[in-house]
Amino acid sequence: MTGSQPVPSQRILVLDCGAQYSQLIARKVREQQVYAEIVPCDLPAAEIARRQPAGLILSGGPASVYEDGAPACDPGIWQLGVPVLGICYGLQLLAHQLGGEVRGGGRREYGAAALTWQTPSPLSGDLPPTMDCWMSHGDAVQRLPAGFAVLATTASCGVAAAGDVARRLYGVQFHPEVTHTPQGSQLLANFVHQVCGCDASWTMGNFVERAVAGIRAQVGTGRVLCALSGGVDSAVMAALVHRAIGQQLTCVFVDHGLLRAGERDDVERAFGGYAGLELIVVDATERFMTALAGVDDPERKRKIIGAEFINTFRDAQRQAGEFGFLAQGTIYPDVIESGSSKAATIKSHHNVGGLPAELGFELVEPLRLLFKDEVRRVGEELGLPTSLVWRQPFPGPGLAVRVLGDLTAERIRMVRESDAILRAEVAAAGLERQISQYFTVLAPVRSVGVMGDARTYAHPIIIRAVVTDDFMTARPARLPHELLERIATRIVNEVRGINRCLFDYSSKPPATIEWE
Ligand code: XMP
Repeated sequence: MTGSQPVPSQRILVLDCGAQYSQLIARKVREQQVYAEIVPCDLPAAEIARRQPAGLILSGGPASVYEDGAPACDPGIWQLGVPVLGICYGLQLLAHQLGGEVRGGGRREYGAAALTWQTPSPLSGDLPPTMDCWMSHGDAVQRLPAGFAVLATTASCGVAAAGDVARRLYGVQFHPEVTHTPQGSQLLANFVHQVCGCDASWTMGNFVERAVAGIRAQVGTGRVLCALSGGVDSAVMAALVHRAIGQQLTCVFVDHGLLRAGERDDVERAFGGYAGLELIVVDATERFMTALAGVDDPERKRKIIGAEFINTFRDAQRQAGEFGFLAQGTIYPDVIESGSSKAATIKSHHNVGGLPAELGFELVEPLRLLFKDEVRRVGEELGLPTSLVWRQPFPGPGLAVRVLGDLTAERIRMVRESDAILRAEVAAAGLERQISQYFTVLAPVRSVGVMGDARTYAHPIIIRAVVTDDFMTARPARLPHELLERIATRIVNEVRGINRCLFDYSSKPPATIEWE
């Protein structure tokens, strides 16, 4: 049970028709300071009505409305009197379900298009008469249902936007949620504010207030335990829970010996000043190193680290006493992703900041509704140091998945030291916020080099630096050559055991961000 999430009174439901962009739609709505939540597109109309949404957005999707098993909404939603915006497939579904016609198997239209508004409506509001938009569709609406008018066209799309203003039902064939539609955010703002009548009240200041009240109501006088991982989510969660219940909170930070340089100090410094917060730091390096000795299979490493983390945490819990609640830094993408059972297991992500409820606690998960950027803004609201709030993600298994092959103290040292050099140089170049994630990886091969007058036979270090919005896909970051050269020179000169430096130019997919 997780009863501490503050639920805002006004909300938009995004009905997910299988789009890769559903999360983006919800995030873009929230940027308009309106709370949006993603639900399956076939959620029964009665359940939708029970949640009292101010508006519905039907997402895009890869299907055609005529395909067997194509995603469909409960037709009852059209009788709810709730405003609807269909996006791409969402527009086609709206047309199909309300008696219009969709043309299948047409020529795919993919890319930028110039759109012209034909008929004014609250959806276009003060948008310019022509604007760029991003198209990505095969099917298109051929005939609109009764009561609908064409609102906008492009050269190749006769129904680029349509609406029944009286019933507050709208649809767009393009994607207002992507940055390639420069006025897309304004269109979404028009929908949520002008059409649905939502206030701009989803702010992180309001969130903190509601979350604090929610945590107090859930926990009462109980004691709460939480695991700090050094990552953003668990740090913000702990600061928030501390704001709510002060000394009823105890934090455990497990140093598994696989942390980045300075990580433990950062956490101790950030939470040292929190009045009444008990911070238990467990040095479990030996325990983890013993369990991992001789293991080079990536999945086994991950499993062992997950299991050892729970054992260590359990020991700390026994020493710290009786706790009824466990606070976790679960965030909204974790919730959405764990709802999908279709994805193949590429890696078992052991979020070692999170622990299973089977440990016998009631869960407190105050960030469950938030996207990562919102979590960072809550961190800033709570006064956490910028270095902690804006740090790049770090995997639960730590440096273990960046040391390919055997895990020895010596090999972990090479990754830790080279990572510290990379981070220092990226910071000095002022590029920290431009690169989503950057780190070094130790390859289990050796090559010949020359240092001074002597031959070396040592390992290469690989630099991985990527740019991504959601970590599901990523492309290599474009770093200046001088910077790369400086980093390579420093790593080879300063890190014992390294004689070459390589840069990983692969995208995800087909590679992943981490190497294991
Ligand atoms: P991949 O390597 O799958 O990583 O492209 C995507 C993002 O997830 C992080 N990552 C993890 N985070 N536990 C975590 O908490 C894990 O086991 C784990 N494995 C990968 C990775 O650093 C990247 O940000």
